[in-house]
Order: sequence, then C-alpha cells, then structure tokens
Amino acid sequence: MSADKREEARPQGLASALTESGALSRDWLPAFEAVPRHLFVPDVIWPGRAGMNRQSDRVIRAEEPDTWWTAVYRDAPITTQWDDGTYTGPGKGTIPSSSSSMPTMVCSMLSELDVAAGHRVLEIGTGTGWNAALLSHRLGDQNVVTVEVDEASARDARERLEAAGYRPTTVVGDGARGFPGAAPYDRVIATCSVGSVPRAWIAQTKPGGIIVTPWGPTYGGEAVARLTVADDGTASGPFVGSSAFMRLRAQRTDRKHVRAYLKGRNWPADGGRSTTALSPDDVGEWAVMFAIGARVHGAYPWMEQYEDGSYTLWLRDTAGTSWATADYEQGRYEYEVYQSGPRKLWDEVETAFRWWEERDRPGFDRFGLTVDADAERVWLDSPDAFVVP
Ligand SMILES: C[S@@+](CC[C@H](N)C(=O)[O-])C[C@H]1O[C@@H](n2cnc3c(N)ncnc32)[C@H](O)[C@@H]1O
Repeated sequence: MSADKREEARPQGLASALTESGALSRDWLPAFEAVPRHLFVPDVIWPGRAGMNRQSDRVIRAEEPDTWWTAVYRDAPITTQWDDGTYTGPGKGTIPSSSSSMPTMVCSMLSELDVAAGHRVLEIGTGTGWNAALLSHRLGDQNVVTVEVDEASARDARERLEAAGYRPTTVVGDGARGFPGAAPYDRVIATCSVGSVPRAWIAQTKPGGIIVTPWGPTYGGEAVARLTVADDGTASGPFVGSSAFMRLRAQRTDRKHVRAYLKGRNWPADGGRSTTALSPDDVGEWAVMFAIGARVHGAYPWMEQYEDGSYTLWLRDTAGTSWATADYEQGRYEYEVYQSGPRKLWDEVETAFRWWEERDRPGFDRFGLTVDADAERVWLDSPDAFVVP
C-alpha cells in the first residue's frame, strides 16, 4: 500500500471521533464518509492548534507529508490564506483570511441547518469547498449555491469540487448580497461571521426557512445564531454555541491606532484618572466579551502586553472619539483607569459586566438574536427580553 493510500484510511478515525462526541449526526455520516477533508485541503497550509485560536508555521505537503496529513485529520481549523492572499511568504501573515474550518464546527453547523431532501441551500464563504461538497453530496449539486468573495479561493475550490465530482453553483462575489438569481432558499449557512446579518439573506430565505450564521459583536466573543425566518420578513432564534470565524470582508472593524485617539499627545493626555475593583482580566473571556459586546456597541478592546506579565487593556470606539485604559498587574485588588472622550468606555464595560454577573453569568446558549428591517437585537432567555431595552 502506498503512503498516500495508507493515509487515506485516516478519515474513518476522525468520523468516529466526531460521531462519539455528538458533533457528527447520523444523517450527515454518509456525506462525511464520502467527502474526505483531504480532498479540499491545499498543499500549503498553516495548521491550527486544537482548542486555540492560533496557527502553526507553514507546512508544505511535498516537504512534510506526515505533518500535513496529521493536520488534516486533527479536529482543528487550518488556515489556507493570509491577508486576502497578499501575504505569500514563508511565515505567517497578519490576518488569516481563509481556512478549512474545524471539523466539529462544520458538522455541528450542518446539523443545526436541519436540511431535508430537496432543500435548496445558499452557503456564504466557499473557502476550500469542503462544506459545499458535503452539502452537494447530501442534497444534490442542483440544490447548492456557494458564494466566495476571494477570486483565487473561489477558483481553487471550484477545481477541487469538480475533481471530487461535485458541481454546485459557485459564485464569485460579495456574499452579503446573497445570490438572488437562485433564490428563494430553504436554508442559508454562512461560514464567515457577521456583526450584522445581511438583510438580503433574510429576503432570499423562504418563510419558515433557517439561517445559520456565526454572529459576534464588535467588542468580541462570537456564537452561531440559528434564525428562523418569519412571514413578516423578520428572523429570530437562539445562539447555539460559541465560534471564532473570519469576518465577512465588508464587516471587518477598522481598528484605528491609538495615535489617532491621542492626537499627537502622550498618554494619558486629557484622560481622567479613576480606579476600579474590577480586574481587566475578568472581562477578557470569550463568553463575557460576547455579553459585554451585546450591550456596549461600537467599541473594542486591545491588549498591550509587557514582559513582566502585566498589561494595559485599551478600549476604543469605532467612531474614533473615545478611549480608555485599565492597567492589569497580578496580585492587585485595585486597578488604575484613564478615560477620555464623550464615551466613558471603561464605565460602559464595567456596567455591562455587572449586568452579566447579576444574571448568573449567562453563557451563549441563553442568548438569542432578532433581526428586522431596522434593528438587530440580542435577547436573553426569551425573545422579548432584549439586553438593551
Ligand atoms: C472559514 S472560511 C470558509 C470555509 C469553507 N466553508 C470551507 O468549507 O472550507 C471563510 C471564507 O469566507 C470568505 N468570505 C469573507 N467575506 C466574504 C464575503 N463577503 N462573501 C463571500 N465570502 C466571503 C473568505 O474569503 C473565506 O474563504
């Protein structure tokens, strides 16, 4: 048996592990077995580290076949492109911009989609084409449309899909517009995250249809929303689990440098000093960031780390009007805060944290989202309990 043939036995191991964990449901098993991940992973990759949002160094299949195969059949995401393809060097770029998603995430999102024979599905974010192939196997090529904004990724994915025997409709363009030419859809699945659900997705989904999309506020934290489209053109539903996807290109936050806020002066410039008993360390976990972001809009954190383990947590607003800093040092019970501008960003974050704490620190599964023509509102426990009244 050749080395490659031996390696091709690996998919079974991953399928068993995902079945055991409950991520791979029985109805998706035949598609998962028929469409092995390795057919959709490029020869040049940056393997993700399991359980971490970090990538290892570049791996070239021809040079390190064992490392490549191990990465493909590990339950972790694999970065396949940096910086929208502008970075081509041997190390890592700045922002990962395309990937083969973590298999557990692929399987659980497909399960949440709740497809049935004959359903028509729109996928946003073709990436490597693996998810589109799984959908095509299950529903038939004629029922799957997949949209990718990056021309090179779209071209490579189409070639891989064809080589594997699948011909869904592949579209190069901005997935925020959906694909009206083949609407309406029974299901929409996004494999890039949004901070605002494009209304075109709702308009192109049949009433009663489902949209599965990662959604995250500007502040941070992210979870998969499972929205049901109503007759009146609204969409609402719970978050079903945490996620960490790449952002839909047009919705990336423009994170201005701190110099833009200090306007040439030195920190803390005109910042007002205060102290807080809330540790900056307590507002940095994914779930609490999500809760804070649901209440504190248009602001984001940035950490400036120092060699001794201490750090400054910067908070800035997207409008470029306000900033705050909170200094973390181990072993302290009181932390120094500076705030400047019309928004008191640390105060906003601290108030949101207290709100979350008073409600017993809800996880993602207690939150939900309702989207209508004018607004997008997060709720807690019940669709009429908006977190911002
Ligand atoms: C996590 S990857 C998708 C993984 C993919 N479904 C797979 O099976 O390999 C996210 C993809 O979303 C794409 N993307 C980002 N913004 C987009 C947009 N506005 N329209 C369509 N695709 C977009 C990225 O270029 C990237 O390829």
